[in-house]
Amino acid sequence: MGLLLLLVLCTLAVSCTTTSVPLKVPSHLPFLLRGCNDADVLAMAASVLQDINNDLKEGYVLSLNRVSAVQEHRQEGLGSLFYFTLDVLHTTCHVLSKKPWRDCEERLLHQQVYGKCKALYYVNRPLRILYLPAYNCTLRPVSRRKVWRMCPDCPSPNSLSDPNVLETATETLAKFNEDSKSGQYSLVKVTWASSQWMFGPFYFVEYLIKESPYIKTEANSSGYQPTDSGPVGICRGSLIRRLHEKLVKINCDFFQSQKNESTHSPSKDVLSGSVQYLPELDDEESQETDPAEAFPVHLDLTTNPQGEPLNVSFLFHGPMIKKLFVLPFPKEEQRSAECPGKASRSDPILLPP
Ligand SMILES: *[C@@H]1O[C@H](CO)[C@@H](O)[C@H](O)[C@H]1NC(C)=O
Ligand SMILES: *[C@@H]1O[C@H](CO)[C@@H](O)[C@H](O)[C@H]1NC(C)=O
Ligand SMILES: *[C@@H]1O[C@H](CO)[C@@H](O)[C@H](O)[C@H]1NC(C)=O
Ligand SMILES: *[C@@H]1O[C@H](CO)[C@@H](O)[C@H](O)[C@H]1NC(C)=O
Repeated sequence: MGLLLLLVLCTLAVSCTTTSVPLKVPSHLPFLLRGCNDADVLAMAASVLQDINNDLKEGYVLSLNRVSAVQEHRQEGLGSLFYFTLDVLHTTCHVLSKKPWRDCEERLLHQQVYGKCKALYYVNRPLRILYLPAYNCTLRPVSRRKVWRMCPDCPSPNSLSDPNVLETATETLAKFNEDSKSGQYSLVKVTWASSQWMFGPFYFVEYLIKESPYIKTEANSSGYQPTDSGPVGICRGSLIRRLHEKLVKINCDFFQSQKNESTHSPSKDVLSGSVQYLPELDDEESQETDPAEAFPVHLDLTTNPQGEPLNVSFLFHGPMIKKLFVLPFPKEEQRSAECPGKASRSDPILLPP
């Protein structure tokens, strides 16, 4: 097994053939290439994405489209550190809803935002430890031109700073408040907008709302009630103007009240992670650019080719110091023949090159 692994690695790694370079590689190096459709890999990828979504404070819940590459680095007597590269998609759920990504609806093609995440995932099965030390993702909206070729009548994404977008949000929220029996809400921010011409201009917006500090009462006796709440829900509203008519549609979903924060152990927090948004890829541009640069994701807890220790003692009970050995993130091309895995949405428009 060990010999076979070494052979596989030697055929893949340049360092084995270029013996002239005196590269000193640690003896326990390096990666075991895992199949992207393996049941345990898929289960881990699902929880990686859950942990990323839990860590995010803004934006939409990401769903797993496919595992693009996965390398396992066995840690002596301490389980394994996995290096995941995942192709992901936006869902319709906001991260503040705290909904599991599997329960979230897929976005329509013309609304899609897609990309790549890299993540480190530490798994120690005997001790039932699962820990996401770090992740980074890069996302882009689908190419408008490609969508247009498939669906010329689809709405196209709209700039969030367009005054018509703000107007649509305010007008639809006013209607919601008018019909509301529970309370009054005010706009936090617009998170998505699209527009289309349908007999007249049509705007569709998504926005976060919070409880309004002004209570609507006949007497307005209490008047101002300072509530310092964060966003409590997300609304989807649309406005269409046709001659002298104005059609307003609005639908809001309220988030589940936040789980008791103190039950979440702060020590298991992610060390570092972020989502970077880039503009859509132009057709010409996507042919010219190096695929790795089309969705650049950097995730290096170390740049030292020899690797570096990562103290994870806090994950264990007891006074012993436990350290993982972290290496620079392996190249995506350094992957098993069974990678990338099967995509749940295989439309090439939605797959990073
Ligand atoms: C209630 O009182 C506040 C502060 O006095 C005021 O700003 C607000 O417009 C009033 N709301 C209504 C519905 O009259
Ligand atoms: C959260 O949990 C802590 C400790 O378990 C408890 O003291 C506190 O009252 C809980 N808070 C809420 C809002 O349930
Ligand atoms: C994650 O990406 C950001 C840029 O988007 C970069 O500054 C940061 O260093 C990356 N984190 C790691 C651990 O590589
Ligand atoms: C490792 O982490 C533990 C607990 O977080 C801490 O007590 C210990 O001093 C750290 N050890 C080293 C060598 O950094």
